[in-house]
Amino acid sequence: MITISQALEGSAATLVKVSDTPTLDAQTILAHCLGKSRTWLLTHPEESLTNSAFSSLQQEINALERGIPLPYVLGHWEFYGLDFTVTPDTLIPRPETELLVDKALDWLNLQPEPCMAADIGTGSGCIAVALAKHNPDVSVIATDISYPALKIGRANTIQHNVDHQVNFLQTDLFPPIADRFDLVCANLPYIPTQTLQNLEVSGREPDMALDGGPNGLDLISSLLEEAPGHIAPRGILLIEVESSQGAKAQYLAQRAFPSAEIEVLSDLSGKDRLVMIQLPKIY
Ligand SMILES: C[S@@+](CC[C@H](N)C(=O)[O-])C[C@H]1O[C@@H](n2cnc3c(N)ncnc32)[C@H](O)[C@@H]1O
Repeated sequence: MITISQALEGSAATLVKVSDTPTLDAQTILAHCLGKSRTWLLTHPEESLTNSAFSSLQQEINALERGIPLPYVLGHWEFYGLDFTVTPDTLIPRPETELLVDKALDWLNLQPEPCMAADIGTGSGCIAVALAKHNPDVSVIATDISYPALKIGRANTIQHNVDHQVNFLQTDLFPPIADRFDLVCANLPYIPTQTLQNLEVSGREPDMALDGGPNGLDLISSLLEEAPGHIAPRGILLIEVESSQGAKAQYLAQRAFPSAEIEVLSDLSGKDRLVMIQLPKIY
């Protein structure tokens, strides 16, 4: 029988071909197969694997070798300190998107009244859930064009006990309702089609979640055109952008909201990441 330390060594050696972090990935996968923590594994190196655990490990290592991303193999991933179910129907939540959630919560926490928010292109629901979990007064409408993604988003709200705060709707960008939102968050597809074809994520995560059209700004531009009919005076719109799109997105935002205060914020690596549009009392 193979021991934990032998299994880890063998798995890491296999994963060298497909991962920059083979040791960590091997530990994560084996911990997942055994239903134990990584710490437990490292403190029980001589423990033997059962045949069924070894067979699960082999299947999951094979999946990684075939290029399936680790979060899809595990079936879950962390975002904003919360654990989210993810499937190949949803984008894997990225740490860069935490900046959008930070800014949204900073703003929400200053509002004297409960707010109505929209999360456009919700995917796994990670933004909507993080907002609802950290601000019990906010109500969120989360939209996506993908019904399978919405099902996962809904499951995540239930898992985090915020399903009473978040409603899901399958629609193209904004929901067709007359109410105006105080806060609009959007992490829409923004990778230019041509660029996407040369990226590793292409074909591994849903194209619908990544492809932003010829210049990457198709969805963001449509969102900004529609947005004036959907945001309340003194409201705020937060749009995640690709690092090369800050200036162009700012120009589109200025055109849609000439009297708004517009800022492009950088992520931790100093790259443009977020366009923040704050509306005046009358716009
Ligand atoms: C970049 S992913 C973001 C997912 C999630 N908000 C996150 O931050 O991880 C973009 C999402 O927008 C959705 N989407 C694409 N086109 C859309 C449209 N026209 N209207 C609404 N959602 C759309 C995709 O299905 C995908 O779930």
